[in-house]
Amino acid sequence: MRADLVIEGRAYVGGRLIETAVAINDGLIISVSNPALTPEAEERVVLGLGQLMLPGMVDMHVHMRDFNQAHKEDWYTGTLAALRGGVTLVVDMPNNDPFVDSLAVLREKLEIARSKTLVDFALYCGAPRNPHEIPEIKKIACGFKIYPEDYDKLPGLLKYLEENLIVIHPEDPEIIARERSAIVRPRIEDHCKIRPKLAEIKAVERILEIARNKRLRLHFTHLTTNDSILRIASSKLCGASISCDVTLHHALLSSDVMMMLRGVAKVNPPLRSKGDAEAMLNAVRSGLVDAIASDHAPHLLEEKLREDYDEVPPGFPGLEIYLPIILTQILNGDMPPRVLDLYSRRPAEILGARKGSLAPGMDGDVVIVELGKEHVIDPSEFASKAKYSPFGGWIVKAEVKRVYLRGILALEDGEPRVGMGVGRHVAGS
Ligand code: NCD
Ligand code: ZN
Repeated sequence: MRADLVIEGRAYVGGRLIETAVAINDGLIISVSNPALTPEAEERVVLGLGQLMLPGMVDMHVHMRDFNQAHKEDWYTGTLAALRGGVTLVVDMPNNDPFVDSLAVLREKLEIARSKTLVDFALYCGAPRNPHEIPEIKKIACGFKIYPEDYDKLPGLLKYLEENLIVIHPEDPEIIARERSAIVRPRIEDHCKIRPKLAEIKAVERILEIARNKRLRLHFTHLTTNDSILRIASSKLCGASISCDVTLHHALLSSDVMMMLRGVAKVNPPLRSKGDAEAMLNAVRSGLVDAIASDHAPHLLEEKLREDYDEVPPGFPGLEIYLPIILTQILNGDMPPRVLDLYSRRPAEILGARKGSLAPGMDGDVVIVELGKEHVIDPSEFASKAKYSPFGGWIVKAEVKRVYLRGILALEDGEPRVGMGVGRHVAGS
């Protein structure tokens, strides 16, 4: 047996840190074994002191924009940000301009993504405008994203979407509309009031009710309240096929950051109280949530600095700092090492992708990180077009040194080593 590449050193394998050697052939991991037992290889990489090998990370909630919003982000800059963050599979949301809810637009998006991407990718489709297109859409999309304004369409769509991944943005639109209309000229400090915790909890309840006794694969994204996490956990216990994720901003930041950074930290759902953030952090630590997702949501800085509350678009970038922040939390003893699974193996399993673990048969996606040296997060250096972050100024103790995508060196010291279009489309499962 021969391999194209063997990487030898400390690695995160099966939830543990071990000395091992990962052999990759034809883009796939063929063995993870004692270094003395690895096959002959074209190339052998031996990790240095302080370096650690991880599987490529999987981010199941990102916005690459492009189309008519390429000024905010495009598939090249967005996936370079992913590579820099050690992410080798991104799953992109459909809220583009044009909105992706038809086969024609989905196909167009697939072509744009294919031609520019630096990492492997999958695409969600929005609530399909024409249900008859769903069989063809399923061949391209890995799942469907249901926004609050589309909840009403969900019951009618369910019979077409059995067995498919359905990702829910849980915030009840009626509660938000009511709260918004009660304030004449909202300021940024009203953001949490306009989008209260109750809106999330009600939406989770409503969707769980719609899905009751149906064969569905539901995934609730960017949860911010303990109540909704517990409701989802109990439905899961009762046998429903449900998963959920949280973002690091909801687990590590609270609304006082928004009071300082104003529109820059405006995001949906909003940053909440310190107690809520602590609850999300504990849900991550205890494994009550299935995944961490960045909700990388880039906008231009000038858009984020607008005066008028309604004119400030929600969201901020995250892809290039998620892994360094998670590793720093682990190094500081604030998260257990297996939290790494929430940003790799677990989302890969939810998506049915052959990624996210250093194990034979998986794609040869390997990230080499260097641990220990302190860096200050400086958003002006982001590859993303959105060069700001509520995590700006945070100190991280981990740096992505190299990323291999299916055995190909894709990034080294922050610079891409591959050209546009190297990433592959991962279709639905
Ligand atoms: C997202 C965006 O900008 O596309 N914004 C956000 O605040 N999360 C929209 C979304 O994910 O719902
Ligand atoms: Zn989003």
